[in-house]
Formats: sequence, structure tokens, C-alpha cells
Amino acid sequence: MNTTTCTDAGGVADSLADRFEATFGAAPDGVWAAPGRVNLIGEHTDYNEGFVLPFAIDKRARTAVRLREGSSGKDSRVRLLSTFGDQGLVAADAASLSPGAVKGWAKYPLGVVWALQQRGLDVPGFDLLLDSNVPLGAGLSSSHAIECAVVTAMNDLLGAGLTAEDMVTLTHHAENAFVGAPTGIMDQSASLRGARGHAVFLDCRDQSVELVPFQAQDAGLVLLVIDTKVAHSHADGGYASRRASCELGAEVLGVKALRDVGVADLEEAGGLLDPVTFRRVRHIVTENDRVLQAVDTLRSQGPARIGALLDASHASMRDDFEISCPELDLAVDTARSHGAIGARMTGGGFGGSAIALTPVRDERQVRDAVVHAFVDAGFTAPDFFTVTPAAGAERLS
Ligand code: GLA
Repeated sequence: MNTTTCTDAGGVADSLADRFEATFGAAPDGVWAAPGRVNLIGEHTDYNEGFVLPFAIDKRARTAVRLREGSSGKDSRVRLLSTFGDQGLVAADAASLSPGAVKGWAKYPLGVVWALQQRGLDVPGFDLLLDSNVPLGAGLSSSHAIECAVVTAMNDLLGAGLTAEDMVTLTHHAENAFVGAPTGIMDQSASLRGARGHAVFLDCRDQSVELVPFQAQDAGLVLLVIDTKVAHSHADGGYASRRASCELGAEVLGVKALRDVGVADLEEAGGLLDPVTFRRVRHIVTENDRVLQAVDTLRSQGPARIGALLDASHASMRDDFEISCPELDLAVDTARSHGAIGARMTGGGFGGSAIALTPVRDERQVRDAVVHAFVDAGFTAPDFFTVTPAAGAERLS
């Protein structure tokens, strides 16, 4: 991971540092950033030890941090402030954090502190200011961006020597055990290990990564994000129940994880599983296969040829995994029928965003058509923006 100082982000880092000093009365020790992500393909495969293909986006969380040194040396007092949300200044004691006790955005940085302590690290008190332009609740991993910015900062400040893989494991523990969302490792892997111009092909069994070039603009395309504004939470029942179905499927089929089931095994699996579990399993098995095909296709033919795989992924999530919703389906269908060469929901589902790989010349037409379709259906107006693969977490100053 790159933790060198990034000069072109100097302006942003300086203004956050100024604000930090105005709030806490002293300059921060540094400023760090970590991006949100979109997932090109490979949904719910991560906790099945399968394959995913996300990338870090050019929207990120930034944090300015200063370790505290009280008059009698270090203390364990923590003060947290964000430029978003309505919580105001949050005070906590680093020495007495407990899972489930913290509400609002503060649970993400404090979850990281707790996970560092669980790993045996001594975390003193600190002041922290957080800022983010990752849309909140849009399925673009705004919470992981916060966690990854904070763990990168703490790793530097404490001289902890954690690798990117360690930080993925640590933030995963924070998310599952402190925040209470039973998610996999995809989001933090994209945020910590992303690289400009590349998608992150991650094998979730051993955390090995290959960077795959993804330059939509070279093929005359843009990756358009359509934020449906439908709120979702991975701490709610839908995500956990899909995960439980996958675990049941693996158990009945006698494999360690659904990663170990191939497309050719599906026919036999159909005779062993109840119909719902079978459809959940079929999504995971075919989705893993689609990720591998997408990587091959990107490498051999480029982004213009992955459209059909995106479409098939969406159909599988809608029909087999049943994690889409009317707004996501409408966004995907409308984008497809107005020029997108492939479209799918991205992220955990039940709301959030869709992505539409769209020829540059059709972008306006796709946006307009989706807006009209949402008005006609009586849905809240969606948001749009395009994304390109950006650098992973880094120190800004
Ligand atoms: C969320 C989780 C990830 C992953 C996706 C679905 O983003 O945080 O771990 O499971 O959903 O692919």
C-alpha cells in the first residue's frame, strides 16, 4: 500500500488540517484518505471464499488525526468530529470500548480502535476530524472508506507495521464484531489495495490480488453510477439471511465454502438442496464463474465486451439471490434499453446503487431516461455520477 505523501491532494489535506486546528487547538499529526468502491462483478461471493472484481473510486473519506498527550503524558480520551451527520463532537474513552455500544458514524473509527486493541496494540487517546465525499448509504462503502482511512492513519501513527492484508482482516473484524454487520472482505480490500486505472481481482480465500486494467474511457465508455436513494443496511436481516443460506448450502453439499462448487456440480446440487437454498447456491456458483470470465474478457478484449456478464449478474441477483428491488431493476432495465451495454446493481443489495457501462455518446440519454422512468413510477429522484478506478488508501500530508 502506498503511504507516501500525495502532493496533488495538498489543498484538500491543508483545508482539513486547518479545520482540525480550529476545532481541537493544535495541528494534526497528519491527514489520510481512503476511497469508497464500486464492484464491477462478483456479488456476495466474498464470504463464500470466492472471487470479486471491485475498484476503488475517485470519492473518498479523509481523516486528520492527532494522538493526545495530556499534561501527565498520554491519556485515553478520544474526541471525534465529522463534517457530516448531526452528532456533533463525540467523546469516548479508548480504554473502555465495547461492541454494539456506539451509535452513528463514530462506530466506524471506534470499531477500528477496538479491533487494534483486540490485536494487542495499545491505542492512546486521540483527536480525529473526518470528512467524506463518498455518498452515504448509496452502497459505495462509505463506512469502509472511513474505517480504512482510520486504520491507515493509526498504522502510521502507532508504527504498527500492519500490511494491507492485516488491515483488511482488522477492519473486517471491526465491521463484523463491533459494528455488527456480517460482511465479507471485498470493500476494505478495494479501498486499501485499489490502484489507479485498475480493478482489483481478489481471491477471497487467500486474499491474493491481481490488478486488472479497467480504462472504460479508452473504449469510448463511462461507468455510470445510479444511486437509487433506497436506503439499505447490512446489519439488517436480508444480508445475514443470504449468508446463512450459503452456509447451509455448503454444509449440505459437504464443502468448506461455496467456492468449492463448480457450474458442472449444479445439476447434482439441485437434487440435494431445497429450492430456495438451491437458487442462492446457483447465484454464488454462476457469479464466481462470471467474475473469472469478466477478468479473461477484460484482459483479452477490454471493457466493451463485458456487458452481457453484467446483465447476467443482475438477473441472477434479481431472480436467484433475490436482493434487488424495484428501483434497482428499473434503473438497470432503463439504462439497458437506452444505450448501456451492460448494467447491474452493485454492492450488498436491497437498495443502494446500480452501475451502467455506457457509451460516452449515450450517457445523457441514459440519465434522462432513468429520471423519467423514476418520475413515472413515483420513485424518489436518483443521483448520477461517473467513476474511474482510483488509488487506494494513502497518507495525504
Ligand atoms: C457488501 C459487503 C461486502 C459484500 C457485498 C456483496 O458490500 O460489505 O462484503 O458481501 O455487500 O457482494
